[in-house]
Amino acid sequence: MKAVTYKQYGSPAVLNLVDIKKPQPKHNEVLVKIYATTVTSGDARLRSSDFPPVAWLLVRLLYGFFKPKKEILGHEFSGIIEAVGKDVTRYKVGDEVVGTPTMLPTGSYTEYICVPEERKKGVLGLKPRNLSFNEAAALPVGGMTALFLLKKAQLNKGQKVLIYGASGSVGSYAVQIAKEQDATITAVCSSSNFDMVKSLGADDVLDYKEQDYSLLEQQFDIVFDAVGKTSKSKARKILKKGGQFVSVKALTSPTQEHLEELCRLAEDGNVRPFIDKAFPISEIVKAHEYVDKGRKRGNVVIEVVKQ
Ligand SMILES: NC(=O)c1ccc[n+]([C@@H]2O[C@H](COP(=O)([O-])OP(=O)(O)OC[C@H]3O[C@@H](n4cnc5c(N)ncnc54)[C@H](OP(=O)(O)O)[C@@H]3O)[C@@H](O)[C@H]2O)c1
Repeated sequence: MKAVTYKQYGSPAVLNLVDIKKPQPKHNEVLVKIYATTVTSGDARLRSSDFPPVAWLLVRLLYGFFKPKKEILGHEFSGIIEAVGKDVTRYKVGDEVVGTPTMLPTGSYTEYICVPEERKKGVLGLKPRNLSFNEAAALPVGGMTALFLLKKAQLNKGQKVLIYGASGSVGSYAVQIAKEQDATITAVCSSSNFDMVKSLGADDVLDYKEQDYSLLEQQFDIVFDAVGKTSKSKARKILKKGGQFVSVKALTSPTQEHLEELCRLAEDGNVRPFIDKAFPISEIVKAHEYVDKGRKRGNVVIEVVKQ
C-alpha cells in the first residue's frame, strides 16, 4: 500500500510517497481504508520541527531527537472499515468512520491504518452521514480542540465571545460551536476572510492588521485565541469580571465524548468543516508548502481515495 513517510525533519521535500506493507488488525482492532486525511498546522510544524527553543527540546525528546520516531505523519482521517478483529464489538465491516491516530505507531498519511476499538488516547467514531469523506477527515483535530477549549471556558447560552484567528481550522469550528449556543461572536481575522467567518456565524468582524481588538469598548465573557498569537494580558482588557481566556497554546486532551458530540453537531447541521483546498496524496509536498505559508482558511484535505 501507499504511505507518505519522512525520515528527517525539514522542508516539505522530506515527504516521500512510498510502498509499505499493509497492516493486519489484531483481535481488538479495526482495519480502516482511509479515504481522506488532512495537513494540519501541527503536521507542518512537526515535519519542520519549527518550535520555540524550550518547546523544540521537548518535542524532539518526544518525537525523536535526530530523526522522527514516527515516520508517518497525519493526525486525522475518514474512511471505511475493511476488516475487524475477532474481539471488536462496536464496529463492523463497511462502517464509515472518522478518527485520530493519536498515540498509535503510525499517522494517517497512508491507505490503511489499524485502530484499536477502545483507546486511552485518540478516538474513532461513526462518520456523520451528511458529510463527505473530505469534510469528515477535517472534523476531529480542529473541531475537538475548539469544543474542548469552549467547554474549558464554560461557554453558556447567549454569551459574548471574541474569537481571535477565526479563519483557521480551530477558529472556524469555534465560531460555529459558539453560534450553536446563541453566542454573539466577534471574529478577528483579515478582511479577506470576513465573508468566510460571517458565513460560519460571526456577528461582528475586525481586521487584526488594522485594529487592536483589546481597545474595543465592549466587554466579553470569553476571548478564544484560536491561532496562539495573542495573550491573556492583552485579552484581559476586554474581559468581563470572571470572563475566561482560552488559547490553543494550552495542552488539550479531547476524548471520545468530544468526537461524538462534534459528530452530532455536524449531523444536526450546526457544524460543517470549512475546506480551503483538497490535494491528491501524490501532491502531499504541495499541500505542505501551502500550509507552511500560515494562511490556510479552515482545513486542507488530502484525498487518499479520489472523490
Ligand atoms: N492545543 C491543541 O490541541 C491544538 C490543536 C490544533 C491546533 N493547535 C494550534 O492552533 C494553532 C492554529 O491552528 P489552525 O490549524 O486552526 O490554524 P492555522 O492554519 O495555523 O491558521 C491559519 C489562519 O490563521 C490566520 N492568522 C495568521 N496569523 C494571524 C494573526 N496574527 N492574527 C489572526 N489570525 C491570523 C490566517 O489568516 P490570515 O491569512 O488572514 O492572517 C489563517 O486563516 C496552531 O498553532 C496549531 O498548532 C493546537
